[in-house]
Amino acid sequence: MLPTTLWGGLGFANWAREVSVQEEELGVFFDTIVVCTVTGSTQAGMIAGFALEDRDDRRVIGIDASATFDKTIDQVARIARRTAEMIGVGRPLRDDEITLVAGYQGPSYGVPDRQTIEAIQLAARTEGMLTDPVYEGKSMAGLIGMIRSGEIPPGSRVLYAHLGGQPALPAYAGFPGLGAPERNLTA
Ligand SMILES: Cc1ncc(COP(=O)(O)O)c(C=O)c1O
Repeated sequence: MLPTTLWGGLGFANWAREVSVQEEELGVFFDTIVVCTVTGSTQAGMIAGFALEDRDDRRVIGIDASATFDKTIDQVARIARRTAEMIGVGRPLRDDEITLVAGYQGPSYGVPDRQTIEAIQLAARTEGMLTDPVYEGKSMAGLIGMIRSGEIPPGSRVLYAHLGGQPALPAYAGFPGLGAPERNLTA
């Protein structure tokens, strides 16, 4: 029997198909997808789903929030390859289709650092978008960091996938910068 995470890629493979259909309807194309990655099944499903298009001008960037990078990228690759097989991609996935970015995970899973808090505050102040200190605050920090560094170049069409972590926010209301005064944050 397959572990559930192998099946877990299927839902987001279909999400990728839905994105393609909506892009066609709207006449837009997103060359960059940014998503938070922990177990890897969401990102893996997206990679497999977009692989069905067989084009090389779109990248799916997972921002690691697991803080166990090696294990997580291995999981993303395994689930993506397995999902690709299940949905009939018909070719092996290339290594360059599997992109997991480190540097935004904070000290550990579930623990934000200064970048996470700044990203949560910036997204809330400028876009009214609520992100959380466990998942989307970290992928938002990755998005901001990669734009500032030029890794996501000017002119890119970015689709930021918000997976809905905001219900975690009240649990962190006492955390510096999220309700309590800012102090003692890891750099
Ligand atoms: C809100 C939220 N964002 C991101 C993720 C990460 O997704 P995955 O575990 O599929 O990598 C999860 C996983 O539980 C989640 O609940």
